[in-house]
Amino acid sequence: MKPIISPSVLASDFANLQSEVEMLNKSQADWLHIDIMDGRFVPNISFGFPVMEAIKRHAQKPMDVHLMIVEPELYIERFRAAGADTISVHIEATNHLHRTVQQIKASGAKAGVAVNPHTSVQLLEDVIADLDMVCLMSVNPGFGGQKFIENTYRKIEAMKNLIIQRNSQALIEIDGGVNQENAPLLLQRGADVLVAGSFVFSSADPIQTIADLKSSK
Ligand code: DX5
Ligand code: ZN
Repeated sequence: MKPIISPSVLASDFANLQSEVEMLNKSQADWLHIDIMDGRFVPNISFGFPVMEAIKRHAQKPMDVHLMIVEPELYIERFRAAGADTISVHIEATNHLHRTVQQIKASGAKAGVAVNPHTSVQLLEDVIADLDMVCLMSVNPGFGGQKFIENTYRKIEAMKNLIIQRNSQALIEIDGGVNQENAPLLLQRGADVLVAGSFVFSSADPIQTIADLKSSK
């Protein structure tokens, strides 16, 4: 099975957002990864609703929204209205994860949960059956262009085992420091979705880079 490729718009040229989104439309990208940062959950602020809505106006592909914000439950319906197809919240950012997951599903979006590098995947044991996706952070969230954390490989294996054990349909997404070298290793261990920001947007030919990621195995 070919991986789902979700380029992170965070690494794109914001001054030329329309042409960046049109490039993604033409490419083999499956989704657009949208990183929302609040300056509280992570030490950085990215962009909010107006920018997301502007992306949505041009995007011909599903929007994979990664909320790096505290108390995401306060904003689920607004992100859905702004065009989110999948909404991932951090397990570390919400007190009542089960309720937040149900809230995402009730909004009509697919539900994802993201876990920081230090967070054990075992904490998802009692919610995994309800999820459409888990996002394993392979960098500490907050910035694009960071170095991939190698411990992610064993987390994918542990996550995959838990998914099978619990008869879950959840996809495994890997976010942070993904490139052509680690992509095959991630896929071999059970990753389904690859997010890539700087590797795509700082390459000379992003359309080709996306095609290369898509054909990794
Ligand atoms: C990190 C974000 C990532 C980031 C990935 O906080 O969640 O999605 O944009 O960027 P790269 O691929 O450059 O690590
Ligand atoms: Zn992300």
